[in-house]
Amino acid sequence: MAESAELILDGKSYSFPVTEGTEHEKAIDIAKLRDQTGYITIDSGYKNTGATKSAITFLDGEEGILRYRGYPIEQLAEQSSFLEVAYLLIYGTLPTQAELDNFSHQITKHTLVHEDVRKIFDGFPSAAHPMAILSSLICSLTAFYPESVSPDLSKEEIDLNVIRLMAKISTIAAWTYKNNMGHPLNYPRNDLDYCSNFLYMMFSFPTEKYEIDSRIVSALNKLLILHADHEQNCSTSTVRLVGSANASLYGSVSAGINALWGPLHGGANQEVLEMLQAIQKDGGDTSKFIAKAKDKNDPFRLMGFGHRVYKNFDPRAKIIKKAADDVLGALGINDPLLKIAQELEQAALTDEYFVERKLYPNVDFYSGIIYRAIGIPTEMFTVMFALGRLPGWIAQWKEMRENKEPIGRPRQVYTGELERDYVSIEQRS
Ligand code: MLT
Repeated sequence: MAESAELILDGKSYSFPVTEGTEHEKAIDIAKLRDQTGYITIDSGYKNTGATKSAITFLDGEEGILRYRGYPIEQLAEQSSFLEVAYLLIYGTLPTQAELDNFSHQITKHTLVHEDVRKIFDGFPSAAHPMAILSSLICSLTAFYPESVSPDLSKEEIDLNVIRLMAKISTIAAWTYKNNMGHPLNYPRNDLDYCSNFLYMMFSFPTEKYEIDSRIVSALNKLLILHADHEQNCSTSTVRLVGSANASLYGSVSAGINALWGPLHGGANQEVLEMLQAIQKDGGDTSKFIAKAKDKNDPFRLMGFGHRVYKNFDPRAKIIKKAADDVLGALGINDPLLKIAQELEQAALTDEYFVERKLYPNVDFYSGIIYRAIGIPTEMFTVMFALGRLPGWIAQWKEMRENKEPIGRPRQVYTGELERDYVSIEQRS
């Protein structure tokens, strides 16, 4: 007999079906709750509420498991490439060589942006945060491709928008950096792979030959893979909600970029680096800052620790920590911030205060160390998170559209004033 949930309200019993996922997660289906009972549920922050059913990413917060389309993140990080993982997330299967070659070739062909996009850069103040520029320019693609705002896009039209977005975000992200630095913008090169092309557009100058370092390309692939999707996090839920109104893929992703920018979300990687720099500037005494973090009267908080869903450890942090050691070792970089980070981690993993609060390093804690090692400035860290998360946002938006999900429109419990009559301004005190 199918499992169900019994609810007794006002002395009356109601039964609601239980749905079970392929990993045996169970949910009470309350689609008919309000119609049958007049009640709604409320769950601030949606900590106990599923917004959708999805076949893209599975994570187990208790066991520290993360899989993209069933493949463990550890295997993908070690054996795959970012574009192969992007194809996997978006289309659901690992591509054949021919499929991957075509996907990569299509993206390469679309890395150029309309010349009018360059003019938009001129409208921003030179100190504009790169995430403000990125979200604006990604949204502007809707203006260049107005046909993308349609509820009836064919598979081919959706695929074209997917390719355009995957291709152009790397150019726009690199140009955001070069524009902020006052450097000449680099046009993409069709002879380079995705990550090499991004590094070329970020760090080359027309005045000298740019040498691609395969060790940095490998580290960048791994970082982007580790950020590629994470089920219904804040920015992905934003992309799905905006997309459920039939907004274009570009507009939906632009909204996701703004959600990711929040310091409580993707902006945390920039906050971690700034925290490590502040500790270094203060003399590097990590025990002093551990004590500050434990002092409830002290506003200092350890950034990059703890997570909403992981209850023991973030599997991505373990991989990134090793990658940080590998990259800095390979490049011969002795970054004092890495030593500070390692001391903080060791303290947090042994100090009962942090252990009982499940405060352990998350994906943001070490990623900035690697970005810094490969020359990416702190303000660009969250842009890098967006670059990595894009295939996940695309996959989730596409799944929502293919499943013909209704427009997202949560209910509320009203706690405001009861009905009252308008008072003219002369009679107000
Ligand atoms: C993410 O990867 O999006 C972050 O870990 C945040 C989250 O999953 O809630």
